[in-house]
Amino acid sequence: MTMPTGAAARAQTRANTPAYDVARVRRDFPILTRSVHGRPLVYLDNGASAQKPLRVIETMRQVMEEDYANVHRGVHFLSQRATERYEAARETVARFLNADAREIVFTRNLTEGINLVAATYGRRFFEKGDEVVVSAMEHHANIVPWQMLENERGIRISVVPVDDAGELRMDVYESLLSPRTRLVAMTHCSNVLGTVTPAAEIVRLAHGRGIPVLLDGAQAVVHRAVDVKALDVDFYGFTGHKLYGPTGIGVLYGKHELLAKMPPYQGGGDMIRSVSFSGTTFKDPPERFEAGTPAIVEAIGLAAAIDYVTELGQDAIAAHEQQLLEYATRLLSAIPGLRIYGTVAEKAAILSFTLETAHAHDIGTIVDRAGVALRTGHHCAQPLMERLGVAGTARASFGLYNTHEEVDRLAEAVRSVEEIFGR
Ligand code: ALA
Repeated sequence: MTMPTGAAARAQTRANTPAYDVARVRRDFPILTRSVHGRPLVYLDNGASAQKPLRVIETMRQVMEEDYANVHRGVHFLSQRATERYEAARETVARFLNADAREIVFTRNLTEGINLVAATYGRRFFEKGDEVVVSAMEHHANIVPWQMLENERGIRISVVPVDDAGELRMDVYESLLSPRTRLVAMTHCSNVLGTVTPAAEIVRLAHGRGIPVLLDGAQAVVHRAVDVKALDVDFYGFTGHKLYGPTGIGVLYGKHELLAKMPPYQGGGDMIRSVSFSGTTFKDPPERFEAGTPAIVEAIGLAAAIDYVTELGQDAIAAHEQQLLEYATRLLSAIPGLRIYGTVAEKAAILSFTLETAHAHDIGTIVDRAGVALRTGHHCAQPLMERLGVAGTARASFGLYNTHEEVDRLAEAVRSVEEIFGR
């Protein structure tokens, strides 16, 4: 069959793109110049983890070369300097989410943030028969911690279904909010479908019944500006490594009045006021939830990533990614036997698909030989796979440095899979 011609189709999708100098952006990411299997790398696994700009790499290196010591512990110069930079990173995260720095807890990743809420808020306030409402498109990180409380406490998990397009069934959501609902814990953006959930409406309906809301923002913060005050959300979590920052650092935002009611998560150094064998007292949030030496360099690296993204402009990044999504959807849809999962209007730049003729892992392996990095499999969302009736999908997830030419390479590589298996 005749494919859309690359140059004409690219020109068409770019017509409405505001000036965004992707070539300049790419120069900030050293890894993008490397080859894989003899072909220039096309990195489309940003949903799993994004690549790092020089700004992050150099900031972390500079901290370790010049400003490194443990934080909150020393009167000496370097300890104070490292503490200032660590706490400045917290302020940067707070500005990024429009929160107060006292409401920002540094965690290891999004998973740890949700586990923190389950282990502290959940254990303190949930009783047998209480309910947590989640959606059918949650990542395992927003399912398993609640199942652990289900086993331990006898709570119940209510699941809001998604329709065939990948839209959250808001009519069912409202009917699942019961007098026993103690928390709504929902993704803000599906890592498989790209569906952006109607967060403000989710919060409004829950708050109307006095129910707090936690949003998993791991994918959402990467693709759009998030304002926790405007959303009025109670807990919001994300991870650094998907936001062009380092691994080992994540963020849990919690309204201060809620964090203040929560007991500590882990015990140890730095989270206490005083310790004796007759009793221990704890610091206020957020320190109460940061036991032990934190990820100092990584927190500062995350702040550098946030500065980088903010300076590029989250709206400009989102507009660029939407152009890529639209173009990729057009090109891939034209491939025989290819099915796209997640077709809602409000969608981040994530494209999951299957081919009639080839298993998702075969797609991933063959396109990898062409230098194209995709994620394949269940994407840590097995209940969603069951809902979609597939064992797994191939997923292209776009980032701020991807280009239309890379989408051409993706389409060419996927066509070659179809040609091999479809014969
Ligand atoms: N949660 C990450 C993903 O969607 C790892 O790939």
